[in-house]
Amino acid sequence: MTDAIRPILTGQKTLIVGIANEHSIAYGCAKAFRTAGSELAVTWLNDKARPYVEPLATELEASIAAPLDVAVPGQLEAVFDLIRARWGKLDNLVHSIAFAPKEDLQGGLLDCSAAGFATAMDISCHSFVRMAKLAAPLMTGGGSMFAMSYDGATRVVPNYNVMGPVKAALEASCRYLAYELGGAGIRVHAISPGPLKTRAASGIKDFELMLNDAAQRAPLGELVDIMDVGFACAYLASDFARRITGGTIYVDGGANVVA
Ligand SMILES: NC(=O)c1ccc[n+]([C@@H]2O[C@H](COP(=O)([O-])OP(=O)(O)OC[C@H]3O[C@@H](n4cnc5c(N)ncnc54)[C@H](O)[C@@H]3O)[C@@H](O)[C@H]2O)c1
Repeated sequence: MTDAIRPILTGQKTLIVGIANEHSIAYGCAKAFRTAGSELAVTWLNDKARPYVEPLATELEASIAAPLDVAVPGQLEAVFDLIRARWGKLDNLVHSIAFAPKEDLQGGLLDCSAAGFATAMDISCHSFVRMAKLAAPLMTGGGSMFAMSYDGATRVVPNYNVMGPVKAALEASCRYLAYELGGAGIRVHAISPGPLKTRAASGIKDFELMLNDAAQRAPLGELVDIMDVGFACAYLASDFARRITGGTIYVDGGANVVA
């Protein structure tokens, strides 16, 4: 499919946050944006993650690569300082990160601690608001922002637990950011992919059941892959989607419309 992609994002600059390895949704996004012609900035979580992410950054010809743990004060600002100094502008931002402490994620919502809830909300949701605030002034010619959600935001998905309310907050944040940034020509999308076998997914109990259910329910009859998500985002970043903002876009083979 990549051979057929036209370079519709040539000249654009895209920050991708959330590559852990080649299975990450963020890697699919990076590859799709690069295939469509965008220059990339990518980040890795910490020194432990760096050896896995740096070779991918090289393969993707990323012109900026830097560490970013959104829980470490100053690191997010440092990434945007680099972007400002090197590029002087930004066109697209992809937020593809989530975290909840294991003991809070794997129990039901009733058993989630206040601290666990706050951490999950900060890393998985408020960090997107912080990124949007730093990105917007660099999007002088308009731009697009993406945050990865999941169907568990609007319906109960067994074992998704605290991440359900967190993704609901993330989708609502996308709507409010779309409202606040629309005047600057900045579009904001929540993307809701079907289940994908990634490292983050391995923290969810009985994830295989979610995969089976998604494959069975999807009218298109199969699971999605990370390039499906990446190309959907690349399309939304293009002028072809210039009047689309604020919504949740499902990339799930249609599973969400089937009871
Ligand atoms: N895999 C799925 O089935 C699925 C489905 C829908 C939505 N999502 C969402 O997609 C996003 C990406 O997850 P993935 O499935 O690609 O898994 P992944 O494990 O490949 O990516 C998760 C990323 O979050 C990053 N991260 C965690 N804490 C961080 C912090 N403090 N600062 C910066 N980065 C941090 C990790 O380093 C990692 O790169 C998440 O928001 C996830 O909830 C996943």
